[in-house]
Amino acid sequence: MTRPDASPATPRVLLFTGKGGVGKTTVAAATATLAARAGHKTLVVSTDTAHSLADALGVPPSDDPAEAAPDLPGLYVQQIDTQRALERHWGELRGYARDVLVELGLDEITSEEITVLPGAEEVIALLELREQARTGRWDVIVVDCAPTAETLRLLALPEALDWHVNRLLPVGRRLMRAVSPLVRQVARVSMPGDDVVGAGERLHRGLLDVRAILTGENASVRLVLTPEAVVVAEARRTLTSLSLYGYRVDAVIANRVFPAEGADPWRERWAAAQGRRLAEVAESFAPLPVHTVPYLPAEPVGTAALAELGATLYGDADPFARPVVEPPMRVAPDGRDGRGGWELSLALPFAERDAVDLARKGDELIITAGPYRRVLALPAALARRTVAEAALRDGRLRVRFEAGGPDDRES
Ligand SMILES: Nc1ncnc2c1ncn2[C@@H]1O[C@H](COP(=O)(O)OP(=O)(O)OP(=O)(O)O)[C@@H](O)[C@H]1O
Ligand SMILES: [Mg+2]
Repeated sequence: MTRPDASPATPRVLLFTGKGGVGKTTVAAATATLAARAGHKTLVVSTDTAHSLADALGVPPSDDPAEAAPDLPGLYVQQIDTQRALERHWGELRGYARDVLVELGLDEITSEEITVLPGAEEVIALLELREQARTGRWDVIVVDCAPTAETLRLLALPEALDWHVNRLLPVGRRLMRAVSPLVRQVARVSMPGDDVVGAGERLHRGLLDVRAILTGENASVRLVLTPEAVVVAEARRTLTSLSLYGYRVDAVIANRVFPAEGADPWRERWAAAQGRRLAEVAESFAPLPVHTVPYLPAEPVGTAALAELGATLYGDADPFARPVVEPPMRVAPDGRDGRGGWELSLALPFAERDAVDLARKGDELIITAGPYRRVLALPAALARRTVAEAALRDGRLRVRFEAGGPDDRES
């Protein structure tokens, strides 16, 4: 197993996600403000093109980390320019893809549009976060994520491709050197040059690094919700999919809770309905802590209002301590049959038995939970073993691997 990374340069990374409009940006900004007040060098970033983060803090948007408030020197905010990030990290590849499509007969405008990569903008923008994490400048990095963890799910794609990229790229390179002068003459499309392949490799490695940071032991995700049926249902699905993809969730934040005091009949009914919903949330998300934030009489804008919101939100808890939650996946020897089997187990909270599916393909395990699928490259200890049994119990998928691999099973 990997040893804890003792490097003091590794920042604590906190990610906030949830359904659209529930208060992710507000809660992220409040947490960052609290961190800076506690003396941590803090960066709060967003990949949101709407500049809401800058608006919540009451500062102009900036593509580079900029001081968020004169009275709070440790707080920096960065509104990542997704277009610029896309151009920087995807530009060369995009140029190549466009040329190929044009050579294949597509017109220029369509080719241009196809290569914009909808949805990937934000993922690529996270490469900027990796650069910030590496500077050693930050104690805490707070990330205001896209709704329902879309970005975090997309980020699992390079992991799924890693096996193939590692095996195919070096072969492809050698092959290309040997045959490309010839191929260039006979092929209908251009072969990618070394620069294009290099850019592809850099992008792939970079995205793997980002994912390693975000699933690492200094990172955790906080789910923001409002106590309403539709929102809670979505939060449950998000928790399932975040676990499937290996992210640790360490808290639930229930925002916009109506205070019950002095309520008129209209608010009384809302407060009662929210109270029931909150009890359900606490029970079903347990053992995760559920922090609540009251519905304030005004929009919390600026560091003073945000710090106040943050203090109410976390109370006595230390929001910046290392996450105590286990990573969703565990691989351990399984002593049950005394013959040296192994068990891989993956937390899949709220997943229904009928919606979970497991398939083995070579060195990969393909795990499906409802609409989500993860292609998991098996750790070396398991890659050569046969799956003996799989079951979903107590919110965990447990996959038992036989003692011997397919080659040495019967000894
Ligand atoms: N507890 C609260 N009390 C009062 N207003 C709030 C509270 N939390 C958030 N708001 C306000 O609600 C609006 C939406 O909040 P916010 O922008 O943080 O949501 P979001 O989840 O980031 O939205 P999006 O999905 O669009 O990014 C903002 O105007 C914000 O100031
Ligand atoms: Mg937002």
